Order: sequence, then structure tokens, then C-alpha cells
Amino acid sequence: MVLVTDAVTPSVTPSPSLEVAGLAFAYPDGHQALFGVDFRVARGERVALLGPNGAGKTTLVLHLNGILTGGAGSVTVAGLPVGKQHIAEIRRKVGIVFQDPDDQLFMPTVREDVAFGPAAAGLKGAALEARVDHALEQVGMAEFKNRPPHHLSFGQRRRVAVATVLAMEPEILVLDEPSSNLDPASRRELADILRSLDVTVLMVTHDLPYALELCPRALILSEGVIAADGRTGDLLADDALMRAHRLELPFGFDPRSATMGA
Ligand SMILES: Nc1ncnc2c1ncn2[C@@H]1O[C@H](COP(=O)(O)OP(=O)(O)OP(=O)(O)O)[C@@H](O)[C@H]1O
Ligand SMILES: [Mg+2]
Repeated sequence: MVLVTDAVTPSVTPSPSLEVAGLAFAYPDGHQALFGVDFRVARGERVALLGPNGAGKTTLVLHLNGILTGGAGSVTVAGLPVGKQHIAEIRRKVGIVFQDPDDQLFMPTVREDVAFGPAAAGLKGAALEARVDHALEQVGMAEFKNRPPHHLSFGQRRRVAVATVLAMEPEILVLDEPSSNLDPASRRELADILRSLDVTVLMVTHDLPYALELCPRALILSEGVIAADGRTGDLLADDALMRAHRLELPFGFDPRSATMGA
């Protein structure tokens, strides 16, 4: 028997898309939001991040591309540590759709907002236009290309915000509450888009049926720590776990009989 010890060859083991280790963070006012968060997400996985209001979900999301830094622990994206050194590359790899689309849209037209990231990454001319058009078509907003984002409805702005991130063709798509304020058809269309993409997805959501439909695996973040990590259907069917973390299924929804999306 050959026993190989300490023969760690990182180039042989593919790095997970995302690895969060011992992440703890307090805001400058002293309020501590994360107390040591650990999890990994493999390439191509779709994972839901569940948890009650104030659990630390958005705080965690803002660490994934280095918007928030300075706490303890580490975040690694496809083997690259998130930090000042690789920040441009990290921001290309991690596409975040923020909880509030108004934090994402700041240009005079929809086109310019969607073109902003790819242009900053060096895309120009016809290739840039094609990228913008494709991203807007994916979210059903092509005809709004020349409109000012601030003249759109909330749900339309959310869809444009998703397009700004899709246009970057990220390795990991992180969505903070993507289905909130979407009408049922847009909510389903976004689900179809997410299922069709060949990317790793981390989706923060209070929409538990949406989590079950889209994400085979879920994490529960509660009071700044990961309280559960498992199959979404199993977590949602665990009444005691759900109650302990203020998670409630919609009236009449039974995760045991719901059918998962393809
Ligand atoms: N800028 C800030 N300064 C101080 N404390 C903050 C700040 N932002 C958030 N917090 C606090 O950190 C904790 C986690 O907030 P966070 O926004 O991450 O929660 P969340 O899980 O995203 O909640 P929600 O479901 O309501 O979006 C909360 O107690 C919140 O009050
Ligand atoms: Mg939040």
C-alpha cells in the first residue's frame, strides 16, 4: 500500500467555486453580524441561502467580492483569495445582484448600465453590443435598452440589474432576494434563466418554494452562523429546524409533495 502524506497538489484537486472559512465580521458601529461562517460551494452547484431578517445574509454576500472586508476568516473564489490583490479578477468572476436594484443601476440608460462591466473588462464595438443585447433578451428587457433605469418599475429594474450581472458572464452568480417584487411570470422566467445557465449560483431568498424549485442544496444562516446545510427539501420538511430559525412555508405549501424543477 502506498501512503501519500502531505502530497497536496492543488492543481489536481479542482478548487470549489466558493469557499468561506471562519468568516466573522463586525460593522464599524460595533454591531457583529457574522460569527464564523464556514461552507463551500462546488462548481455548478445551485445553493439557496436562507435565514430570517437580520441573520447576516446580505453581510455575507457583500464579502464574496470584497465590498466588505476587514473581519476575520477568508473567502476564496475559484482558488483566488478575495482581497485587494486580485480584486478586479474577483469582481469579474463573482456577479452579485444586490437586494436593492437602485444600488446597481446608476447610468443614464439601461444600455449603459448593462455595458458598464463588460466595457470595463475590455469588451468593445459589436462584441460589446451583442453582449448587452443578449443579456437584455435573457431577462426580457430588450425593448427598454434606451430608457433611463430610474423610469422603470421596481421589477423591471430588478431584471435590468440581473442583466448587468449576466453580461459579465460570471463564474458565480450571487443573487440577494431575486424574486422579491417580481410578478409571477417574471419570477418563473428568472427561474428558467437561472436553470439554463451553466454557472454556480448562490441565491439568498425568503421565497422558500423558489429555493426548493431551483436549488438542490440550502444553507440556513441564523444569527451570523450556518445553522444547517443540506438538501433543500429535507431542511424545509424539518418543522423544528424551520421554527427555530423563523422560517415559515407559505400557507398550503408542502415541501414533501412539491415537485422540484428539472
Ligand atoms: N451598515 C450597517 N451597520 C451596522 N449594522 C448593520 C449594517 N448593515 C447591517 N447591519 C446589521 O447586521 C445584521 C445583519 O444584517 P444583514 O443585512 O446582513 O441581514 P440579512 O440576513 O440580509 O437580513 P434581510 O433578510 O432583512 O435582508 C443586522 O442585525 C443588521 O442590523
Ligand atoms: Mg439582506
